[in-house]
Amino acid sequence: MSRVEILIPAEAIASRVAELGAEITRDYAGCDKLVLLGVLKGSLLFLADLARCVEMPTRIEFVWSRSYAGTLGGEPEVYAPPALDLAGADVIVVEDIIERGTTLKRVLAMVADSGACSVSICALLRKPGAGFLDLPVRYAGFDIGHEFVVGYGLDLDEEYRGLPFVGVPGRK
Ligand code: IMP
Ligand code: MG
Repeated sequence: MSRVEILIPAEAIASRVAELGAEITRDYAGCDKLVLLGVLKGSLLFLADLARCVEMPTRIEFVWSRSYAGTLGGEPEVYAPPALDLAGADVIVVEDIIERGTTLKRVLAMVADSGACSVSICALLRKPGAGFLDLPVRYAGFDIGHEFVVGYGLDLDEEYRGLPFVGVPGRK
């Protein structure tokens, strides 16, 4: 592992996640089947913190996606567990980062076939470009640049996910 330059410190993430949780709590008040649908593995830390900031009953489900090899994005594949039950639910898809938007388009197609009542997106990070323009991104943590980032769930070949901040890895 090489040194990682901090881009978003842990404290800034914590206060933004608290704000997002408060917004979700307000927007979904009275909803009786709210599902936070995390996209693994990158959303794991974000979802765990966000769920603790949403002050109403929620269910937690996951799908799994993989597209990156090193710092090169490829065609994402999305897998759902056979027992995934979103029927009648208001679903918030929780994603680590939006770049081209391809991963989320695949997840949304899956949710559209699931009998869910509604769907929106909560993404921790957005990269510049058109990736999120035609997506229902209701909640977004931070807009960043084009740089490849790691930490707080995001990886570079499975390393760095456990860092408490988001940063830019140096060259190996
Ligand atoms: P998209 O499908 O092009 O929007 O890419 C989103 C997916 O690519 C995310 O779920 C991440 O897993 C991965 N990804 C995109 N940018 C980064 C990055 O800077 N660091 C780590 N993973 C990234
Ligand atoms: Mg991801």
